[in-house]
Amino acid sequence: MLQLIVNENYHALSKKAAQIVAKQVQEKPTAAIGFATGSTPLGLYRELIQMYQRKEVSFDRITTFNLDEYVGLTKKHSQSYYHFMWENFFSKVDIKEHQIHFPDGVYEDADAACEKYERQLEEAGGVDLQILGIGANGHIGFNEPADTFTMTTHIVELAEQTIEANSRFFADKSEVPRKAITMGIGSIMKAKSILLLASDESKAEAIRDIFTGIVDPQIPASILQLHPNVMVLVNAEAASLLQP
Ligand code: PGA
Repeated sequence: MLQLIVNENYHALSKKAAQIVAKQVQEKPTAAIGFATGSTPLGLYRELIQMYQRKEVSFDRITTFNLDEYVGLTKKHSQSYYHFMWENFFSKVDIKEHQIHFPDGVYEDADAACEKYERQLEEAGGVDLQILGIGANGHIGFNEPADTFTMTTHIVELAEQTIEANSRFFADKSEVPRKAITMGIGSIMKAKSILLLASDESKAEAIRDIFTGIVDPQIPASILQLHPNVMVLVNAEAASLLQP
């Protein structure tokens, strides 16, 4: 079930999202939280850092799982998603390296790397709250539009639109990795609750498409309609194509 929450602006959306994440951690200090990279959750992370500084929340007992990582980029690479999370959130709160889980983008054996991540998710008892952004093409994690849903952690070829969108972070488009390792649709759907954030006009079509009642692997996020507990936080721009 998708619960739509329209916020006045990006700041309000980020604050609301932070309250939801903090509440989860306050209620279950050992919660497994699924984190997402991208521009959209940055405001959420800023709010959470402030709440931590005000001693309203502590993350020292949570377990973290990130959705995805570029293939070929090490943790220390300035554009790796590990580095992004470390710089923008983990290092600014009381999260230590041993709490952090990422799919391994510098694997020797792709299948083993994917299986390992699924095992880690299972051993943690599954994700309690998964934070998600959404691509303009409806992707979640790096689950790109496709003919079928891929259920478990897997290696993907990035869509041209995604490479284009992400090239803003690289000196040159040719430097954007062509592949990523991502949690699958099934891995995401196993989360007990999901918080999807969208705050830009470029996401309006994708947001409209997840409220149609139709589940279509060409719009990967449309599967969320089958999940029992999804909060969709948007601002007016991202909600602009929804019928009132
Ligand atoms: P964005 O990315 O938050 O940078 O727009 C979201 C996504 O592609 O999942």
